[in-house]
Amino acid sequence: MKKIAILASGSGSNAENIIRFFQHHPSVLVDSVWTNKSDAYVLERAERLNVEAHVFTRNEMVLTDQLLAEFKRREIDLIVLAGFLLLLPQKFVREFKVVNIHPALLPAYGGKGMYGAHVHEAVIANKEKESGITIHLVDEQYDHGKTLIQAKCAIEPGETPESLAAKIHLLEMEYFPRAIEDLLMEVPRVS
Ligand code: GRF
Repeated sequence: MKKIAILASGSGSNAENIIRFFQHHPSVLVDSVWTNKSDAYVLERAERLNVEAHVFTRNEMVLTDQLLAEFKRREIDLIVLAGFLLLLPQKFVREFKVVNIHPALLPAYGGKGMYGAHVHEAVIANKEKESGITIHLVDEQYDHGKTLIQAKCAIEPGETPESLAAKIHLLEMEYFPRAIEDLLMEVPRVS
């Protein structure tokens, strides 16, 4: 069984989608959900879906090796960043495979401060014709690492940050769990 730990800071719609996707999977288990925000809605989602969820402090992640040791103890195979807003320290990237989803076509609209509505607002303000999602391996820089998948959507006349966010959300729901599955199974998908 391959084990996933999901890190999320907010609503957790991606986390929920991933949990549901792997609920009855023969060879992948969502071991646990981890958040740095004690009021993150992802905690409620995890509880409803019977997945262990934990709040951790930035210190437990950055200054001590508490979180790292916990992931090792659990024999986590993949760390999934699903709306996780802190920079994951290098020590995690050295020890574990880590994947992230970004709501734009990197390298455009990535980097510090480019998250959530900020991304969609910038894309619309620049009159882009398309946007999309990037699912990528994580290295030591924000929104860097090897791209695994990009999926695009068109930006229509009159598009708003909210309507674009809804399109991006659909792409995230469709592609993220399958990308994680491929990564864990190491089998390239043909279509
Ligand atoms: C998603 O748009 C994801 O691409 C970005 O943060 C958002 C998280 O949303 N990294 P949710 O918490 O999964 O609902």
